[in-house]
Amino acid sequence: MSYGLLKGKRGIIFGALDENSIAWKTAERVHDEGARFVLTNAPIAMRMGTINQLAEKTGSTIIPADATSLEDLERLVTESVKVLEGKIDFVLHSIGMSVNVRKGRSYTDQKYDWTAKGWDVSAGSFHKVMQVLYKQDAMSEWGSIVALSYMAAQRVFPDYNDMADNKAFLESIARSFGYFFGRDKKVRVNTISQSPTPTTAGKGVKGFDGFISYAEKMSPLGNASALDCANYTVTLFSDLTRKVTLQNLFHDGGFSNMGVSDAVMQVFDNE
Ligand SMILES: NC(=O)c1ccc[n+]([C@@H]2O[C@H](COP(=O)([O-])OP(=O)(O)OC[C@H]3O[C@@H](n4cnc5c(N)ncnc54)[C@H](O)[C@@H]3O)[C@@H](O)[C@H]2O)c1
Repeated sequence: MSYGLLKGKRGIIFGALDENSIAWKTAERVHDEGARFVLTNAPIAMRMGTINQLAEKTGSTIIPADATSLEDLERLVTESVKVLEGKIDFVLHSIGMSVNVRKGRSYTDQKYDWTAKGWDVSAGSFHKVMQVLYKQDAMSEWGSIVALSYMAAQRVFPDYNDMADNKAFLESIARSFGYFFGRDKKVRVNTISQSPTPTTAGKGVKGFDGFISYAEKMSPLGNASALDCANYTVTLFSDLTRKVTLQNLFHDGGFSNMGVSDAVMQVFDNE
C-alpha cells in the first residue's frame, strides 16, 4: 500500500546488500512512496551483492562508497546532489560490521585493531556521513537522517560482542550531531533500535536462531520484520515526524519493555 508520503523527496540509502537487507526493503518502500534516491554500498559489497537489480527496479543511480572513507563520502554527496538535482531530504545509514564477531573472537579476547575497524564501520562512519553532509550544506531544511541500532546498546546480550559498544557509540553520535544539525539546518537525526532480523549481518551473530525465537516469544506483538522497519523508516522520512529528533526509537514489538512473557514462562513451567 502506498500513501504518497515521500512524493518529490530525494535521498541516499546506504547498506542494501541483498533482498534480505533492511536497507533493501526500505529502498523498495521509499520508492513506492514516491521518493527518488541514490543507492550506495562499499565497493567490495557491490561485487558480492545484487544491488543492480534494486537500482533497476527503483530507477536509482548507484554510487559506490566505503563509508569509512571521507574522500568517498565527499564524492558520494556531491554526485548525489547533482544526480538528484537538488539537496537531500533523507539519509538511511544501514551499516554494521564487527571483525571480532566475524572471526569468532569473544568479548573478553578482542583483537583491538579489529575492534577499531568495527567501530569505524559501524559508528564512526555515521559521524563521517553527517559531517560531510553538514559541511557541504547538502541537506534540505526539515530533512531526516536515520541510522539503525540494536538494544544491546542498553542491555547485555553477550554474543553481540563489541557491536554492543559500537551501537552505544552510534546512538550517542545521533544525539550529539543531531543537536548541531537541528540548530543550524533544521534537520532531524534519530536511530531506530530494531528487532533481531534475519539478514547477512544479523545471522552473523552467534546463536542468532535461538535468540530470534526467544525475542519473538518475549514480544507481545512479535518481532518487527525488515519490512516493518522499512515502513517505520518511511514515517521518519515523511513530513509527519518533523519534530522528532535526538531519539533512539525502539521498533521491536514491545521487547524492550518486557520482563517476561507467558510464552517464555511456559518453557520453564514445564521443567
Ligand atoms: N539484522 C539484525 O538483527 C539487526 C537488528 C538491529 C539492527 N541492525 C542493524 O541494521 C543495519 C543493517 O543491517 P542488516 O541487518 O540489514 O544487514 P546487511 O548485512 O544486509 O547490511 C549491512 C550492510 O553494511 C554494509 N557495509 C559494511 N561495511 C561497509 C562500509 N565500509 N561502507 C559501506 N557499507 C558497508 C554491507 O555491505 C551491508 O550492505 C546495521 O546497522 C545493523 O547493525 C540489524
